[in-house]
Amino acid sequence: MSIHTPKIDKKITLTTIAKMKGKEPITMITAYDALFAKLFDGEVEMILVGDSLNMSFLGKEDTLSATMDQMIYHTQAVCNGAKRSLVVLDMPFGSYATVEDAIHNATRAYRQTNAQAVKIEGGKERAHIVEALTKNSIAVLGHIGLMPQFLRSDGAYKIRGKDKTDIKKLVEDAKALEKAGVFALVIEGVKEAAALAVTEAVSIPTIGIGAGNVTDGQVLVWSDMFDFFEAFTPKFVKKYGAGAKMIREGLQTYRDEVKSRTFPSKEYTY
Ligand code: KIV
Repeated sequence: MSIHTPKIDKKITLTTIAKMKGKEPITMITAYDALFAKLFDGEVEMILVGDSLNMSFLGKEDTLSATMDQMIYHTQAVCNGAKRSLVVLDMPFGSYATVEDAIHNATRAYRQTNAQAVKIEGGKERAHIVEALTKNSIAVLGHIGLMPQFLRSDGAYKIRGKDKTDIKKLVEDAKALEKAGVFALVIEGVKEAAALAVTEAVSIPTIGIGAGNVTDGQVLVWSDMFDFFEAFTPKFVKKYGAGAKMIREGLQTYRDEVKSRTFPSKEYTY
């Protein structure tokens, strides 16, 4: 008999997340619409409306062409479904290049959705953006390590923290972002030693993805973890369900039953 951890029965706030560091691991997954957000609500502390939707739901090659309008549209849908989990809107590429752009776009995110925070990618070079947003009462989730929005300028997705120099840089980035006011920090695609160094260096929670089992929490892209996204599977993705297989088998049965006129039977007929 397996014993499950309890579901979340209260509204998760930024304070709830801050208090969890060092006490209880934080769970986070992505969502892009109300139907699934409703299913995920209360199962995890945080829901990220990630710009990964550009790939998993819009079929694009990378995240770079996602727009602020798209992120707002999907976050509105997610907020319609999620009432307990804390919702974060991922600021898309180019939407926070300057302080003015960041304040304009993040203010739109707060005004037009019920997201409790926005996420931005970048290290200490983005600390001034974080500071400007937090001073304007907009909560920010940082994101360091492998940053998908840097794909074209970096030339490839690169695992970070492979040597002491890079670990030092990641720690400096994390500290600068903490000082600037991020409430938590996503660390993506780094060696476990780097994730540990960052987690120990800051007093805010770290949320890992491909960062080993040393961070204060974990985040996964929902369509990866339930095996709906079949284009590729990164090493860090554990499959918690066989989504694509379930759909294919269901559709096969539906097709067979319609073609053989066994559906709809009397049970499904007025
Ligand atoms: O866009 C996204 O889904 C993300 C997660 C991978 C953290 O940024």
